[in-house]
Amino acid sequence: MDSFVIEGGTVLRGEVEVSGSKNAVLPIMAATLLTRETCVIHHVPDLSDVRFMCRILQSLGAVVTMEGGTLTVRAENITGTGDYDLIRKMRGSICILGPLVGRLRKASVSLPGGCVIGTRPIDLHLKGLSALGTAMRIEGGYVHAEAPGLRGTTVFMGGRSGPTVLGTANVVMASVLAEGVTVIESAACEPEVVDLCDFLNAMGARIHGAGSPTITVTGVPALAGVEHRVIPDRIEAGTFAVAAVASGGEVTLRGARPDHLGAVLEKLREAGARVERRNGALTVGAGSTLRPLELTTMPYSGFPTDMQAQFMALLCLANGTSIVTERIFESRFMHAAELLRLGADIGIEGPSAIIKGGRPLSGAEVMASDLRASAALVIAGMAAQGRTQVHRVYHLDRGYERMELKLSRLGARIERTQGE
Ligand code: UD1
Repeated sequence: MDSFVIEGGTVLRGEVEVSGSKNAVLPIMAATLLTRETCVIHHVPDLSDVRFMCRILQSLGAVVTMEGGTLTVRAENITGTGDYDLIRKMRGSICILGPLVGRLRKASVSLPGGCVIGTRPIDLHLKGLSALGTAMRIEGGYVHAEAPGLRGTTVFMGGRSGPTVLGTANVVMASVLAEGVTVIESAACEPEVVDLCDFLNAMGARIHGAGSPTITVTGVPALAGVEHRVIPDRIEAGTFAVAAVASGGEVTLRGARPDHLGAVLEKLREAGARVERRNGALTVGAGSTLRPLELTTMPYSGFPTDMQAQFMALLCLANGTSIVTERIFESRFMHAAELLRLGADIGIEGPSAIIKGGRPLSGAEVMASDLRASAALVIAGMAAQGRTQVHRVYHLDRGYERMELKLSRLGARIERTQGE
């Protein structure tokens, strides 16, 4: 298993190109299953999760090619059985269920795996699909779905922690080819849901209200092939912004969408960072002081759970006490124990982490536990004095395109090594 070796204490400066969004492209790839025609997707990041999704689409019978950042999918003849070995490795694969039900009216999909950040149920996905007239049973680790008459209805998708992103995507994708009108209430408002709906509308779907809590889908008989460019990855952009501030430097995020980063940029400003929009580009840099923060993760447009770990690393460097409260995923604090190994002072109390910042960090060996936790360890390692080795960076490869190369170009001393 690969690891990163980081020599800390460097200052990040320069420009970095933001890749296409992982969380947007995965459901969009699943949506290609809704048509027999060819779909061409641009600005696709080269990530292991994307390669997994390609294999899943191929295992269903689609013809898939990836060249540069362009992915072409032709799902002319497909089957509705998703392979266990592929799907269990990636949580995002659950979003093939909606399009398979929509197109074939029948699907068997293995229950997904993914990051270790809580139990991550799929009850809301199942509830939404059932409301549309899908009979569902779970047997042998698979969801078996049958929907001879898929019909529009009103479905409430809110759960204990608010709306579900992939659940919303699944219900939208099942309803675009259903009969009649589907109204999804308490829908997720994330930009990735909007990008999916833009993709589907370009295919000929009739979806209104994406980006708001009420999405209305009027079923159509068939969808056509399409060409689409994926939105930039707001979490990658946010991660590089935090890394720049933590290092005391300044980074310009080329291609970032500031309108997708509202809560993150606001918290950076509150912490004392400089955030500027120059000539259409977004530049984020360290200010004269780094201040502690209180922040709580929330569904979009609130502060994203996928940026929580990176901010925790940053707040270890801010003099004073910060409180980070996680409201989306229970047990998403695995990075805290690893940050302690670098010399941080963090206590966990229920859903909150209390960070007493300002103690100097020093390099150590640490273990990545999930995708965003790994990013936090890299940020902390770059800010620490001495050498940090981050083990199990395969988590990072799931969601960050060539992270070590991008960071090296900004001045970081970071290298990938093979083996434990
Ligand atoms: C997506 C993102 C992930 C991000 C998360 C929250 C992708 C590929 N992944 O994951 O990076 O961290 O949104 O922004 O897009 N829940 C239920 N029942 C369900 C589904 C979800 O109770 O059926 C709960 C979850 O446990 C969690 C909350 O709802 O507490 C939000 O999860 P959800 O939005 O579904 O996350 P994902 O879509 O899986």
